[in-house]
Amino acid sequence: MNTDLSSWLDERAADRATAGLHRDLRPRPPVSASIDLASNDYLGLVHHPEVMEAAIESVRRWGTGSTGSRLVTGTTTEHEELEAELADFVGAEAGLVFASGYAANLGAVTALSGRGSLVVSDAGSHASLVDACRLSRARVEIAPHRDVDAVDRLLSARTEERALVLTDSVFSADGDLAPLAELHRVTRYNGAVLIVDEAHGLGVRGTGGRGLVEEVGLSGAPDLVITATLSKAFAAQGGAVLAGENVRAHLIDTARTFIFDTGLAPAAVGAARAALRLLRAEPEMAGRVLERAADIARIAGVGTPDSAVVSVVLGETHVAHEAAQACRARGLEVGCFRPPSVPEGTSRLRLTARADLTAAEMDTIATVLGEVLAGARGLDAVPA
Ligand SMILES: Cc1ncc(COP(=O)(O)O)c(C=O)c1O
Repeated sequence: MNTDLSSWLDERAADRATAGLHRDLRPRPPVSASIDLASNDYLGLVHHPEVMEAAIESVRRWGTGSTGSRLVTGTTTEHEELEAELADFVGAEAGLVFASGYAANLGAVTALSGRGSLVVSDAGSHASLVDACRLSRARVEIAPHRDVDAVDRLLSARTEERALVLTDSVFSADGDLAPLAELHRVTRYNGAVLIVDEAHGLGVRGTGGRGLVEEVGLSGAPDLVITATLSKAFAAQGGAVLAGENVRAHLIDTARTFIFDTGLAPAAVGAARAALRLLRAEPEMAGRVLERAADIARIAGVGTPDSAVVSVVLGETHVAHEAAQACRARGLEVGCFRPPSVPEGTSRLRLTARADLTAAEMDTIATVLGEVLAGARGLDAVPA
């Protein structure tokens, strides 16, 4: 074993470089001339004057930090207002906000599972749910992606009394949807609980952006728990668990990422509340995200997406990486997903639509994407 840290790190860095897995941090300018197709700011609200003003107002009132764990000094009345507003929005009885969506997933899964229980997770579940499985101390089974029959088999063959099923509602890499209604049916039939991560569903799917759970008619189901992030459609930071009042009480007492983590910062609380108010006032924003996503998919020559995420699979890591760089050089910020985020040989551009993309921006997107993708696919550019 190599005990010298520097040489071990050098070797690992060389391995990653060979595999095309080196990552660069690229600070984002405060105001950019580029068109953003990479962020999760689905409703285009992070620079909205009302959202920024609300964040500033919360800081003026409560200070810059929440000062402690939610159980000690970190709870303000505004945290509780946000929790009630989020719960009301999705049709849940109660809500509990966490410092991030990651922490919400870890907290919900670990507090609702544990030794002697079974956790069944979709193969495409977000990394935070994967890590939650690892921390759960439960027996963990990974079901093939969107395979309801497999979930049913795993649940019905279990020896454990308690079981949880985990899934994203909208999967983060491909933007495809979980078969929520069917999944809930087998979960209920087998006496288990379904945890649905609505990170990419809220603000995009459902009536006025209330999420996929609402869209399929499962709001308020007593055996369903929603987890969410405030960092995407809600233009802030933080996470939430939205479920029954009894789940909230259980998490307050037992969720380690709630108890041993500083409460969500006031600025994020204020910003998220303002973003939610704007979405309620202009529910058409959610539909506009899907329309823009469909336009981008048509330009990219891929199928119409079910969410804001347009996934353009290009194959090998270097092809996707070079295409992403070519887009950036021409003023289009795009995401690039490579292993281990996605399976080997499926490296891709990940383009995210926003409700506020203008017609002029769509024209530029058509020109740049048309040329770059033709190059990446070894074709002649199709005129935009
Ligand atoms: C599906 C999903 N769940 C959870 C998270 C984590 O949320 P947060 O960034 O608020 O920690 C993300 C991404 O950020 C996500 O895409």
